[in-house]
Amino acid sequence: MNFLCQGDCNSDLLPSPFLIVFASCFANLALCRIFVFIFAGMNAKKISDSKNQMNELVLPNDTNTFGNLMGGRLMYWMDIAAAYCAAKHCSAPVVTASVDNISFKNPIKLGHYVHIEASVTRAFNTSMEIHLRVRGEDTLHQFTYESNEAYFTFVALDPNDKPRTVPEVVPETEEEKKLFDGALRRRQLRLILAGKMKPKDATELKALFVNSE
Ligand SMILES: CC(C)(COP(=O)(O)OP(=O)(O)OC[C@H]1O[C@@H](n2cnc3c(N)ncnc32)[C@H](O)[C@@H]1OP(=O)(O)O)[C@@H](O)C(=O)NCCC(=O)NCCS
Repeated sequence: MNFLCQGDCNSDLLPSPFLIVFASCFANLALCRIFVFIFAGMNAKKISDSKNQMNELVLPNDTNTFGNLMGGRLMYWMDIAAAYCAAKHCSAPVVTASVDNISFKNPIKLGHYVHIEASVTRAFNTSMEIHLRVRGEDTLHQFTYESNEAYFTFVALDPNDKPRTVPEVVPETEEEKKLFDGALRRRQLRLILAGKMKPKDATELKALFVNSE
């Protein structure tokens, strides 16, 4: 393709208006990308900035007929702890997009305390994965025990209730890095199960099975 002026311009070396417009658009686009990259990086937040712990006391109204905390009540508290963590990470209103499977290892008894630790593992475009670790505590006999772990996904919303971009996550500790790395595979699995991703596009998830052979 000939981008140089012919005829009137009186010089073969002058670029055509088309080339000038094309070049300036390309330069603007490249500049925009650099700015987006820089600002996204500057916007990145540490996991410890939004990590939090919620504490609750199991009262009679929270229990089933065995005197244990009801699963539904625990999930309600977990949702609140996770929402607080996600909203704090992105400084925006958030909604729960999905909850991965929850298995209850040990029941939490009436009169025991519940400690729900919530931390963001990774942020994607508009969504964030939140990891929850739940422990029970018997303050009378001074011991704590594992109850369950789960992953919740939250989406940040703009003033029109449309998904909006969220800051990146900077993992620092070894455990944070491990959870950060695994988040991509967990996201692919949950999006496949939700019918929002084709299995053939889940490259990281596939690699897990291929590499484990
Ligand atoms: C979650 C919700 C905002 C997603 O909106 P949407 O129009 O489907 O938007 P998109 O398809 O563009 O997805 C937006 C983000 O949500 C994620 N998402 C959508 N469905 C998801 C699911 N089932 N699991 C995990 N993430 C999901 C997408 O991956 C995307 O994340 P990304 O931008 O980081 O890649 C919308 O479905 C909603 O409002 N749901 C109801 C939320 C609610 O009421 N929760 C309370 C409990 S009932």
